Amino acid sequence: MKVLLLGSGGREHALAWKLSQSPRLTRLWCAPGNPGTAKLATNVPVKADAPDEVVALARRESVDLVVVGPEAPLVAGVADALAKAGIPCFGPVAGAALIEGSKAFAKEIMAEAGVPTAAFRTFTDAVEAEAYAVAQGRIVVKADGLAAGKGVIVAHDVDSARQAVRAVAALGTSGQRMVLEELLEGEEVSAMALCDGERYVMLPLSQDHKRVGDGDTGPNTGGMGAYSPAPFLDAEQLAEVGESVIAPTLAVLRRRGLPFKGVLYAGLMLTRNGPKVLEFNARFGDPETQVLMMQLGEDLLPLVDACARGQLQARPLVAAPGASVGVVMAAEGYPEAPRKGQRIDGLDAVPEDATVFVAGAEMRDGALVTSGGRVLTVCARGDDLARARERAYAAVAAVRFEGMHFRHDIGVKGLKAAP
Ligand code: AMP
Ligand code: GLY
Repeated sequence: MKVLLLGSGGREHALAWKLSQSPRLTRLWCAPGNPGTAKLATNVPVKADAPDEVVALARRESVDLVVVGPEAPLVAGVADALAKAGIPCFGPVAGAALIEGSKAFAKEIMAEAGVPTAAFRTFTDAVEAEAYAVAQGRIVVKADGLAAGKGVIVAHDVDSARQAVRAVAALGTSGQRMVLEELLEGEEVSAMALCDGERYVMLPLSQDHKRVGDGDTGPNTGGMGAYSPAPFLDAEQLAEVGESVIAPTLAVLRRRGLPFKGVLYAGLMLTRNGPKVLEFNARFGDPETQVLMMQLGEDLLPLVDACARGQLQARPLVAAPGASVGVVMAAEGYPEAPRKGQRIDGLDAVPEDATVFVAGAEMRDGALVTSGGRVLTVCARGDDLARARERAYAAVAAVRFEGMHFRHDIGVKGLKAAP
């Protein structure tokens, strides 16, 4: 099979790594890709979120399948354009991807599907929103629209609730409409399903680490590291999440003429009253995908192909034994203002039992230099979480670039919870 993968992050490097292991793969392109995917695929300088260019590339190379990594191409209608051209695509059409792009749409779908989630109200008027927030005290304020992770503020008291509404209102267009919701407490986990529009299979449960600093301190980021399996739900409970969250959501989208083909990612809060959905994403998580690809004990390609064609067989997936940990190495200044152009050293000294996925880095004069906030995800698998952590951090210790920072506690919550 000839496959075109869209995106340029660590997630895409991990997807390319996994797809490359498939005996069914004959050729892999990545648009635009990064120095990591370049070793596994042919990188093509085509913008992933330009539907016409993607269709033209897919036609030119007669690809059998397009796999979409990030949300931007989905929102831009790449899957719609590919459907029109008759090219199978793993990734939902724009109307279905709105479940990630619009928090108000996501809430509407959840209400119709009966999916457990935080109580909420939607506002278009910042003054009304502020009055409501102040009355509630503890509240979460969310911009309606993609705001690159900056559109969500968790406020634990009246003063911060007021400031949160003002800050989100000040975001401009995406902040004009906002969702104010009940503050949920518990363990936050990522539950992802591969979906064919009707059927789904659950990927192992994983946990991201969103705050920049150890012990969940500092500002939110795209994710500073992940591990899988997260030991907070057993196989039966994960299957229940499939039945109570994924299945009804797929059914509602399908009824609306928006069959969801791709990854439906439920960000869950495991509250005392059971799992509740914090948000949906319409794509693989990053950095969760890096560890999920290491934990997936079977070929990814037939699965995503079956999803794209609407022919998925619902069944439990084969998981690799043990656990995987991925530590994000970030650039100085991330998440506010990452510093670019730092030379990355030590990759050749990384032990063989670890895998480094490249994200915000580029080749310059024959050397790998930083070019974004999240530079690398350093991953390792082990017989258990503790061993996977040791290996991942041993590999992290081999890598250096000026100003680098990373969390030292990726997977620690899992260690504490393990039976
Ligand atoms: P979101 O972009 O909706 O995932 O929100 C970003 C982060 O804010 C989440 O990963 C949670 O850590 C936090 N968050 C979002 N909604 C809530 C909520 N209702 N209660 C508590 N924390 C939340
Ligand atoms: N790691 C969180 C996300 O991909 O949205």
